[in-house]
Amino acid sequence: MPAETDPTKLMKQQVGKAAADRVVSGSIVGLGTGSTAAYMIEFLGEKLKSGELKDIKGIPTSFQGTVLAKQYGIPLTTLDEADRIDIAIDGADEVDPQKNLIKGGGAAHTQEKIVDCLAETFIVVVDSSKLVDKLGTTFLLPVEVIPMAIAPVMRKIEALGGQPTLRMGVKKAGPVVTDNGNLIVDVKFDQGIDDPAGLDTILNNIPGVLENGLFVGVTDTVLIGEIVDGTPIVREL
Ligand code: 5RP
Repeated sequence: MPAETDPTKLMKQQVGKAAADRVVSGSIVGLGTGSTAAYMIEFLGEKLKSGELKDIKGIPTSFQGTVLAKQYGIPLTTLDEADRIDIAIDGADEVDPQKNLIKGGGAAHTQEKIVDCLAETFIVVVDSSKLVDKLGTTFLLPVEVIPMAIAPVMRKIEALGGQPTLRMGVKKAGPVVTDNGNLIVDVKFDQGIDDPAGLDTILNNIPGVLENGLFVGVTDTVLIGEIVDGTPIVREL
């Protein structure tokens, strides 16, 4: 794959490659969603093609992952067939110092959480712009909601102190519809999120909420792509 020239894309590409290098032959691999995970999937495909990697199977976390895996020749399996996930590699929208995450920028956090939580090892791949001191300070928290419950769920979130906005499609009239047929509300918390674990539980207990984008205590390793003195580097949190 030729090196990207745009600095952000280059960081994502480098960190995607570093993560793909951690996959060993024979593994069942959770395939994350987003532009950084897409590089990782492409590198896995290259390694399979060259013979450097053998006998891996992917479990995608979205329609995007399914399409990319097919495009780059990665055999797929399902949670019905696989008895384990050895490693999952996924992007994130925010990462705090405890390696807790906000995910869901691509509206895929429900399937991502299922796959990433099941993995023996979960590696997060981000560029350095995703690191924050406190979750919810640079990115709104995505919440996947069953369509018939959208009004009461938004009212309940407001009562909890959040400001929910229904996510609208780009180049598509109307709201974003997830791979699971649901809607997304993006929630702003004015002071950020003080208690990610507590909020995770509270949100998921609202009837009609399928899943929220907080990933608490799930991450094993964070790989961060950075440009230092003009040179791309990857460091580990
Ligand atoms: C999708 C996600 C993505 O992993 C997250 O949005 C990061 O994406 P990118 O690597 O494109 O910045 O959670 O639901």
